[in-house]
Amino acid sequence: MKEIAHLSAKEAAAELARLAREIAEHDRHYYRDDAPVISDAEYDRLRQRNSAIEARFPELMRSDSPSLRVGTAPAEKFGKVVHSVPMLSLDNIFSPLEVHEFCLRIRRFLGLAEADTLSFTAEPKIDGLSASLRYENGLLVQGATRGDGSEGEDITANLRTIRDIPLHLHGRAPDLFEVRGEVYMTHQSFEALNRRQQENGRDVFANPRNAAAGSVRQLDPKITAERSLHFFAYAWGAASELQAQSQWQMLEQFRDWSFVVNPLIRRCDSPEALIAFYEDIAQRRTHLGYDIDGVVYKVDRLDLQERLGFVSRSPRWAVAHKFPAEQAETLLEDIAIFVGRTGVLTPVAQLKPVTVGGVVVRNATLHNEDYIAEKDIRVGDTVVVQRAGDVIPQIVRVVPERRPRHSKPYHMPELCPACGSHAVRETDERTGKKEAARRCTGGLICPAQAVERLKHFVGRDAFDIEGLGEKAIEAFFADGMLKEPADIFTLKARFSEGPKAIAAREGWGIKSAAKLFEAIERRRQIPLERLINALGIRHVGETTARLLARSFETEAVFFAAMQGDDGEHILEGISGIGPIVGEAIRDFFAEPHNLAALKRLLDQIRVLPAAAPRASPQSPVFGKTVVFTGTLERMTRAEAKARAQSLGAKVAGSVSKHTDLVVAGPGAGSKRAEAEKLGVAIIDEVSWLKLIGDA
Ligand code: IVH
Repeated sequence: MKEIAHLSAKEAAAELARLAREIAEHDRHYYRDDAPVISDAEYDRLRQRNSAIEARFPELMRSDSPSLRVGTAPAEKFGKVVHSVPMLSLDNIFSPLEVHEFCLRIRRFLGLAEADTLSFTAEPKIDGLSASLRYENGLLVQGATRGDGSEGEDITANLRTIRDIPLHLHGRAPDLFEVRGEVYMTHQSFEALNRRQQENGRDVFANPRNAAAGSVRQLDPKITAERSLHFFAYAWGAASELQAQSQWQMLEQFRDWSFVVNPLIRRCDSPEALIAFYEDIAQRRTHLGYDIDGVVYKVDRLDLQERLGFVSRSPRWAVAHKFPAEQAETLLEDIAIFVGRTGVLTPVAQLKPVTVGGVVVRNATLHNEDYIAEKDIRVGDTVVVQRAGDVIPQIVRVVPERRPRHSKPYHMPELCPACGSHAVRETDERTGKKEAARRCTGGLICPAQAVERLKHFVGRDAFDIEGLGEKAIEAFFADGMLKEPADIFTLKARFSEGPKAIAAREGWGIKSAAKLFEAIERRRQIPLERLINALGIRHVGETTARLLARSFETEAVFFAAMQGDDGEHILEGISGIGPIVGEAIRDFFAEPHNLAALKRLLDQIRVLPAAAPRASPQSPVFGKTVVFTGTLERMTRAEAKARAQSLGAKVAGSVSKHTDLVVAGPGAGSKRAEAEKLGVAIIDEVSWLKLIGDA
């Protein structure tokens, strides 16, 4: 081998290319296949030669250079990465019954006959953090965290240090492909890391997932490189081409590209087989050497996945079957009452701190007084606490043998602890029974509700104002600077000296104050769905807010409709809005205090009309109101509806003068007649499929 000092630049470049390829090959044998073909010493010699050549020719360093594995220079902060295909989450299920229901729901949606097979992949659910890896022409160019699903952080340099992640896809690669999967830490590495942390007087990590998350978000990639992280590939995002026709084939493709795919993944053809897989994995769980918190079932065929689509933020074609939560015993020291933003009094157990599944638990929700009475939970009891994933800890039961002698049953206070108003249990009109929740009647005067409303208002899914966290809201509220949402937008004007005056307050500097005002300014324009969600109307969360926004499109139309006499009927006509939700919305708009506060807010902001994401305005049915009637032969009603909505159409249950199109199959009766009477266009299923380009 030629001495490095004598290499020409051309020779050096050629050798760096060869070394990158060779080292990647050995990495594959070692990390993916667990079957090294050369000794550690030989491998180290290759790496050393690579580094030495790079030291002499730094300008020749490749973007897939093996030296990136040890980390590059630290960053000041992470850039943002917008996920062009959102990173979704999964719905959770907990029982065999729900596995059957999941399969049945899919079969119904797809209109499968009993004899048709429906295959799934069954995969361990790795308890780490998900990451998205972008490959362009086979080269790893960007790696990002999930973030909120739409926008994550650029952690490319850190992910390049993970040996399970190829810097270059092996074999033929598409122009663009985003591989997604889970970054995790093994139990062994976790324990070694915590020992090191302790020896160096640093904080230890509560569990491997926190350790992996902390490691991958290090600004200095060299620290990440020392942390020994791993990666399992199991999904994908944007792709310029897709060779695979099933999840199973895709996993094979990942392996061919050099990724590590979890070896326990199986294909199953029935709910019984899925349940057997779950039980098998649950048994092996403690011996795996890494944390899993359940298993994931995915419809195998990609064409079926596409037909099934998504609801809100989760796919219809996949589900997480979670393991039961871990439990521990501890003392219930007291019961505190928390007043939520809708005025509900929630009892919260104050526990003697206890570690459950690696995390210290001090509080647990007790839900409501019926729950407390049913389990006969009393202050002073020893209780069993459980945690499931990131769900709020729960009290499962009390340990009766350890109850103190003179304990008394618990009674909820009848006055709101925040404002002293009466707290009552309303009677549910429909059932005639008392509602489970006790609510403060203090409405707008109750500080607990006002603060909580403001926190909700600026929260992630609502106005999402950076820098205006819960603490800041509480502080501004406490000294009267913020009483209602509109105040946020006049905050700057009311601080006479602008940023300086805020900066004088505890916890604020000139920079952070200026940043806050910038963040507020940015939110003077807000999409309608976020505004609706921000209002904190009972029963109206993110999904309903989106549905309302898409149905009414502008705030003017929505608010006018809700204040008009016909509000009830208009809401009834929107599929997905039931009577209880409808009533809550109308109650909100019937309250003059709310209307006044809303008007003050609207004076400050501009509301952007709703547009259905994924739906293209190019679709001929975009914005149209469609009614399906009669029997559909090529798809189920649910599928037809979901498809129409994904193209930006509104699907209504009955024909009116607002209907643009009726799709009528055989057996269509009164709706067809009504459409004929009103002169609404009527087409058959085949013409519909042609119209939307699915024929
Ligand atoms: S699939 C659209 N498969 O679980 C479906 N997720 O609750 C995307 N996870 O954010 C996820 N193992 O971090 C999938 N085999 C697996 C998984 C898995 C772990 C995590 C992932 C995701 C979360 C969903």
